[in-house]
Amino acid sequence: MASVTDDLRRFADDMLETMYEAPGIGLAAPQVAMMNRMIVMDCEKDAEARPQPMVMLNPQVLWTSEDRNVYDEGCLSIPDQYAEVERPAEVEVAWMGLDGKTRRERFDGLWATCVQHEIDHLDGKLFIDYLKPLKRQMITRKMQKLKREMARD
Ligand code: NI
Repeated sequence: MASVTDDLRRFADDMLETMYEAPGIGLAAPQVAMMNRMIVMDCEKDAEARPQPMVMLNPQVLWTSEDRNVYDEGCLSIPDQYAEVERPAEVEVAWMGLDGKTRRERFDGLWATCVQHEIDHLDGKLFIDYLKPLKRQMITRKMQKLKREMARD
């Protein structure tokens, strides 16, 4: 990803719109069948607060804390399924912004969980991959059933 094109900017806007409408707090390009390494996020939960949309191109985790945190995670690719996932509580991430500049920032709380979850999507990894086999199987079966039902309609 050498430069930020207008197409890429439009695509980032589309992704943010899709994420807000879902509603969700993060979305990765592969979830909408695009193979570039782009994620969007907004973990500002307070409806009164100003939105904090973030767009990251080619994000990379540079550092993770030893402290860990557990969140009840969900995913727009796995509707209505939630499970507790343990991840590093803090991470430092480098990425390129839509202005073409490289940034580096440390995240904690929900932002840390979300950025790790979204970067995983870029590598084809889902939050259910962190679960114990039985729990993962349960969710996978539910998803397969849902897919079959949708195919029938
Ligand atoms: Ni997800």
